Amino acid sequence: MRKKIKEHESFISSINYGYSIINKENFDELDKQGYTILRTNLNYWKKNNIDFEKLSETTDKLCKMEGKSGGWENGKSKEKNWEPSAQRISNLPNKDKVFIKVSMLPDLIKGVNYVIKNPFKLSSMQIRNPIPFGEKQEMHIDWRPRLFNYFNFNQCTAFIYLDDANEENGSLNIYPGTHKLLGNPNFELIKTKKLKKVILNVKKYNILILNIFTWHYGGKNLNGKKRRTIFSNYRERSEWQQLNQKRFLDKNVIDNMDYKLKYLYAVRAEDKNESQWFYKYRNNYLLKGYQKTRDIFYHKYLNYFNKK
Ligand SMILES: [Fe+2]
Repeated sequence: MRKKIKEHESFISSINYGYSIINKENFDELDKQGYTILRTNLNYWKKNNIDFEKLSETTDKLCKMEGKSGGWENGKSKEKNWEPSAQRISNLPNKDKVFIKVSMLPDLIKGVNYVIKNPFKLSSMQIRNPIPFGEKQEMHIDWRPRLFNYFNFNQCTAFIYLDDANEENGSLNIYPGTHKLLGNPNFELIKTKKLKKVILNVKKYNILILNIFTWHYGGKNLNGKKRRTIFSNYRERSEWQQLNQKRFLDKNVIDNMDYKLKYLYAVRAEDKNESQWFYKYRNNYLLKGYQKTRDIFYHKYLNYFNKK
């Protein structure tokens, strides 16, 4: 266990490149609200050697190319539209090098590391492109709910905003501080605890770092304006990846990665091979029961020993 922590610490200390602005205020917001916005601009992206306009063009190109069938490399049927209010494009690091660069941005790694506080890996990278005038999402969290307070936060997502986002084009609605509550989001608690939501006002070029246990949903797109975002999603290494990177990255993409990247994407020989079978049947009630027991055991004991 200790070896894995050491390995991760060495990965984190190697994040000493590029231009980083995340600070204590952001970390405090992550603690208190469950999210923070980095008010970054075009210059920030330039300093990180990323051509933002090209990133935006590449996004449009992929959206055009993949159309409605985009987004579901991980085995979901292409015929069925799983999210009618938005187009998704998945497996981005395999489609253009710029997405790999984005996934390694120092501020993303530092923010995610602050939330997860345990060794983590990339889980998936997607584009979400809401359909004009599309409906709002249901309120949700993005992962299995925490069952007890000793469960750590084992997933975190960075959103890169390619367009301005506000109430009019369906920006994210968030209930600040709800990452600390256990279980799934529910409207009863909103009423009894008088929870207030925030509708994010975010500009193009900005980055949102979201502890995905914070209750949230994308709003209704009222004015039909674009609201494209790139999600870079990270999970604790003990979890499976939303998209199995060993399986979905082409060999030449992996071969071109340096050691740091291979570690982040968990595509080294020593990184466990994820079970497609388990992924396929993960919603089966027996596996769900197993997962619940495993979560309790893991968080109560293994995670405890991890830190020893
Ligand atoms: Fe979500």
